[in-house]
Amino acid sequence: MNRFDGRRVLITGAGSGIGQATVHRILAEGGRVVGVDVDEAGLAATAARAAEDGTAGRLRTARLDISDEAAVRSGVAAAAEHLGGLDALVNAAGILRSAHTHETTLDFFNKVLAVNLTGTFLMIREALPALLEGQAPVIVNFSSTSASFAHPYMAAYAASKGGIQSMTHAIAAEYSKRGLRAVCVAPGSISSGMTTGRGPGLPEDADMSLFTKLAPAIGQGFAGPETVAGVIAMLASEDGAFITGTEIRIDGGTHM
Ligand SMILES: NC(=O)c1ccc[n+]([C@@H]2O[C@H](COP(=O)([O-])OP(=O)(O)OC[C@H]3O[C@@H](n4cnc5c(N)ncnc54)[C@H](O)[C@@H]3O)[C@@H](O)[C@H]2O)c1
Repeated sequence: MNRFDGRRVLITGAGSGIGQATVHRILAEGGRVVGVDVDEAGLAATAARAAEDGTAGRLRTARLDISDEAAVRSGVAAAAEHLGGLDALVNAAGILRSAHTHETTLDFFNKVLAVNLTGTFLMIREALPALLEGQAPVIVNFSSTSASFAHPYMAAYAASKGGIQSMTHAIAAEYSKRGLRAVCVAPGSISSGMTTGRGPGLPEDADMSLFTKLAPAIGQGFAGPETVAGVIAMLASEDGAFITGTEIRIDGGTHM
């Protein structure tokens, strides 16, 4: 399947988890990719795997902090110049921090919002001019099951993901007549750096009985990040041509 032949794709969070799996999926389907992340070791691992797969010639990686406005401006411009335009933007970069809400500092709250919500906004704002000149342009944003289903100790994270979901709907409507689609994936129970790696960092005294729905209904526990990457590849290709302004939940039925 070569749905991405000739497609130019910018992916954030490309050094780990779902973003990294999406890089490899889109390369495998013929796309040209710029993958960015703050984690340079992660980006090196992404590039090494592409070299093994024989797809490295269509991948460029670069360090980029999506919460830094000036860096996003120059980083997106460099990516669009390298690719000769942009057809898809996949905003996978994000952080998960947990805490009791009554102990959450303003710095903590602002940090989560700055990366997840403001960072996603900055990437979109800077990429839009190139996307609107692109072929069948698509933005894939990252919501989470926490946006629609209660996740205790994650008020800041859930707020950031709910904001991304609402922002995606607004953008989908605003640019619909110009041929741009904007969609969200809402993953849950996916093994990655923020879940099974460094983990969500729950408070030590977290009451796990408050997590009413933790287990996927299908499979053998957490699924791999490639399960989400496959859905993103569908959404960012012509197979997703009639999907916009909505989200797809990918959680093995945890929240059905
Ligand atoms: N894993 C899950 O079950 C799950 C559930 C819901 C939503 N998500 C979302 O999926 C997306 C991907 O996360 P993941 O699960 O693959 O976790 P991950 O930690 O493996 O990957 C996140 C990546 O984002 C990068 N990143 C963090 N801050 C950044 C910044 N300021 N600028 C650029 N890059 C930055 C990290 O370095 C990391 O490589 C996130 O938006 C996350 O919120 C994941």
